[in-house]
Amino acid sequence: MTSDPTLKTQTPLLMTDISFRDAVFEGLGATPKTLPCKFFYDAEGSRLFDKICELPEYYVTRVDLQLHRDHLDDIVRVLGDDALMAEFGSGSSIKTRLLLDKHKSLAGYVPIDISEKHLLATAAALRKRYPKLAILPVVADYTSDVKLPEFPREPKRVVVYFPGSSIGNFTHEESSAFLERARRLAGENGGLLIGIDMQKPLSVLLPAYNDAAGVTAAFNLNLLVRINKELGGNFELGQFEHQAIYNEREGRIEMLLISRRAQSARVAGREFNFARGEAILTEYSHKYTLEGFARTAAKAGLKIEKVWQDANKWFSLAYLTVA
Ligand code: AVI
Repeated sequence: MTSDPTLKTQTPLLMTDISFRDAVFEGLGATPKTLPCKFFYDAEGSRLFDKICELPEYYVTRVDLQLHRDHLDDIVRVLGDDALMAEFGSGSSIKTRLLLDKHKSLAGYVPIDISEKHLLATAAALRKRYPKLAILPVVADYTSDVKLPEFPREPKRVVVYFPGSSIGNFTHEESSAFLERARRLAGENGGLLIGIDMQKPLSVLLPAYNDAAGVTAAFNLNLLVRINKELGGNFELGQFEHQAIYNEREGRIEMLLISRRAQSARVAGREFNFARGEAILTEYSHKYTLEGFARTAAKAGLKIEKVWQDANKWFSLAYLTVA
């Protein structure tokens, strides 16, 4: 039981709420203020993210998908016969289905996701579509160690699949640690198929995170909506503004929520003060050069074996193996 007196009058919190609350307390108590981007994805946040993926300004999903379409034969050949594909993410994407449609000799498919409900629903749908494929979902947080299940058919190699460009949302240190865990999961003769968003002109980058319809703004502000709903917060939503800037030195988009005036907000019995113009950092989205990504991969003991890029070089799909 908690001994925090400010919580006594509140409804009991679930474990997930408690970790959310603690992260919010820690982030809003820090200087500068931050909130972890993993909390974007409640039901509403996931719905808004799906909308982002369809925005004309958000090139990421479109280019990634087209790369898969354009190089499908080659990608499948690189994965090879009897490969076990372990995907970090629920496996609900069109890209996953493209690969599973095309690859006729996979030893199995393991979608790994923290959201059990979503994962099991996706696995059931995939089993219907691919009745002959061994599909063994694993409920786990892939930002910590994951174990693969026993498989009826021994795979020749394990390939970790991480499409999209979610690796960009990690800091460089987190990325190296993540890649190292993925390398261990894939084993000595395994590989990693990973999506990487590349550096590009600001005229493309900035609108992708500041879209005209305001969907990204709503996605960002939804963090405060979520705090209000789940932690009894009293943020005045109209008094915070979405901002996305490009940090040249770090090579990344930074999403912020800017306080429009001096104000305070209460969250689960604690008060946080905001100066006028003060920012809460909510997300990094790193944009790589191939050399930069190769350096991050090298720190994790991996090398780029093969890379597919679109004509503009806006996005890369890389196959990494043990260095
Ligand atoms: C999930 N991730 C790769 C997205 C990105 O582009 O960094 C999240 C996102 N944030 C704003 N728009 C999309």
